[in-house]
Amino acid sequence: MPVISFAPDTGVWLLSTPRTSYALRVDETGAPCHLAWGPRLTLDEARQFVTPAAPPASSFEGRAPAGEELPVDGGTRYGCPSLQVRFADGSRAFEWRPVGHRVDETSPGRSELALEFTDRVHPLRVTLHYRVHEDSDVVERWTVLRNDGDETVTLLRADSAGWTLPARDDYRLSHVTGQWAAETQLHRERLAFGETVLTSRRGVTSHHANPWVMLDAGGAGEDHGQVWSAALAWSGSWRVTVQRTPDGRAAFTGGAGHDGTALPLPPGGEFTTPAYAGLYTEGGFGAASRAWHAYTLAHVLPYPDEVRPVLYNSWEATGYDLGEDGQKALAARAAALGVELYVVDDGWFGARRSDHAGLGDWTVSPDAFANGLTPLVDEVHRLGMRFGLWVEPEMVNPDSDLYRAHPDWVLHVPGRTRSELRNQLVLNFARRDVADWAYGWLTRLVADHSIDFLKWDMNRAFSEAGWPDRADGADLLWTRYVDHLYEVIDRLRADHPGLRIESCSGGGGRVDLGILSRTDQAWPSDNTDAADRVAVQHGFSQIYPARTMATWVTDVPNQHTARSVPLRFRFHVAMAGVLGVGGDLTKWSESELAEGATLIDAYKSVRHLVQHGSQARLRGPGGDGSTCVQYTAADLSEALLLTWQRTPRYAAPLPPVRLTGLDPTARYRDAATGAVHHGAVLTGYGLLPELPSGDWASAAVHLVRIPTP
Ligand code: DGJ
Repeated sequence: MPVISFAPDTGVWLLSTPRTSYALRVDETGAPCHLAWGPRLTLDEARQFVTPAAPPASSFEGRAPAGEELPVDGGTRYGCPSLQVRFADGSRAFEWRPVGHRVDETSPGRSELALEFTDRVHPLRVTLHYRVHEDSDVVERWTVLRNDGDETVTLLRADSAGWTLPARDDYRLSHVTGQWAAETQLHRERLAFGETVLTSRRGVTSHHANPWVMLDAGGAGEDHGQVWSAALAWSGSWRVTVQRTPDGRAAFTGGAGHDGTALPLPPGGEFTTPAYAGLYTEGGFGAASRAWHAYTLAHVLPYPDEVRPVLYNSWEATGYDLGEDGQKALAARAAALGVELYVVDDGWFGARRSDHAGLGDWTVSPDAFANGLTPLVDEVHRLGMRFGLWVEPEMVNPDSDLYRAHPDWVLHVPGRTRSELRNQLVLNFARRDVADWAYGWLTRLVADHSIDFLKWDMNRAFSEAGWPDRADGADLLWTRYVDHLYEVIDRLRADHPGLRIESCSGGGGRVDLGILSRTDQAWPSDNTDAADRVAVQHGFSQIYPARTMATWVTDVPNQHTARSVPLRFRFHVAMAGVLGVGGDLTKWSESELAEGATLIDAYKSVRHLVQHGSQARLRGPGGDGSTCVQYTAADLSEALLLTWQRTPRYAAPLPPVRLTGLDPTARYRDAATGAVHHGAVLTGYGLLPELPSGDWASAAVHLVRIPTP
């Protein structure tokens, strides 16, 4: 049971999750101060973290550089502020005045604490929110700012939360960086003293960084060590600043918006920051990832229990060359292969015969589909598959009827260049009329064509991010754009409860807990080369579960890297997430089709483990060895081992792979070979998966516990 308790004598608040505790207190100055975040504590134990207020050690110090729940700009604070405000009289700074608190333990399985404050001078209300769940060690935090005055307040920075870690000899920062077609590359490096900024200034989560961090004291591994982590639920520009302070502590603060953007808060206005969820574990990076996966399934995804279907997408097969006959031919082959969801990608609408024109004109192209989409949709449904369609609602080609009619609908600054990327401009979703227009055609499109699935794409970053109709537009649009994006998706889902959505942004440009709370899966990368994909998937798995990771088997030589790897290897890599196929099936040989059908069948018999089991990264990518990932059922009755071997050197024999988390007293049968293994041997000594010899060898080993008589 999650518990929130309070010690009135010391003012200590203690939030407890199944295995961890988070303690804080409003100090003598009225500021909310952090006390502890780590293994579970009693209230009495948490009291020990209260230290008597002491003057700074010297006139150069001021308040400790880390240690407040939401460090503000003001007083003797010189660290990175989470909250920075400018009042109408031009003054800055915020001084905490506590005004009350609320505890809500009425919802089954979850408890919430709200600590309310106001500035000592201006009527700006700041409420810090905390939520804990009975089945997760994740602590959700967010902040609500309300302007109770009669003049606009400018929020120069309004982070969701600040997190403080204890003093340690050293700290290491884990995070991902990337670029288009090379997303989620994991880095684990010593945390520098000072401030390390991770950010997106692109208006979208971005390929280049992802809004999560993990910190450890330098010694954690996949299966051991203290790890503190946090992930921001936001799909626009964001900034996370990680600090290592001279007193040996570490801290991070994060929220919506990048440096230089501000948010106007009019009289009576309220801003609710996105949630910034934090997690502490002693089980290393593997346990941290599993806890994030379980949290995402239990508390983020809209339909967590669903098994995601095997998908076919025609993008790599056809590009913009779409037509009813060709699509029907692909659909027939996909259905025969065992595909359950058929998705038509870009090029079905307007004058979209290439990426130069038509984006924004969302009517079925008579050139591509002379009879409309309905005959294809009906055929896909007749073949027993669901029908999916690609859309990119936030964008427009200047060569489109939409842009000719509404040139003012795009982000722009009068008199300045409208920079095109991929020949397109960004529609200003912050505008009410643009968001309503998008919702209108989307809901009609879904209804008129019995669409089961949308691939929602977004293919460029913001530039010339202006909104000339509003004086405060250039500041406001960064958050309002995302609010309206979320609202359009939410309205669409409410209209069509059966609709499922994939989040795509030229690959993995929009993967975060915010978009995942209203979509069903995400496209991690346009790079479908299975060899590269192993590393991309490794980075993706640090926070996001396999249940959300769409993966396709495509043709070789790969369109992006020109590399050729065997079909079996491609399938085994794609089986690590939500399996899809993206090759040109009309060119697959009979034997390739037969092998594909067998492997899809095999995936269907293990996908409950991949999508809903617990994941252990037994060996990471890199080096000459094999990469191994295990997925295990909650009751330990089954496990799947996926292993991928790049290019072995010197014909060196592979070492056995030690499995984890199986029942050591049980025996497990290999579902394919019938070989029987003792759980104690699998976990204590390891398994030697049978791999074909040579480069790009792979295996999927499905182990099923033998019932004891
Ligand atoms: C980018 C996506 O990531 C691709 O999969 C494809 O949908 C193209 N856009 C289509 O333009």
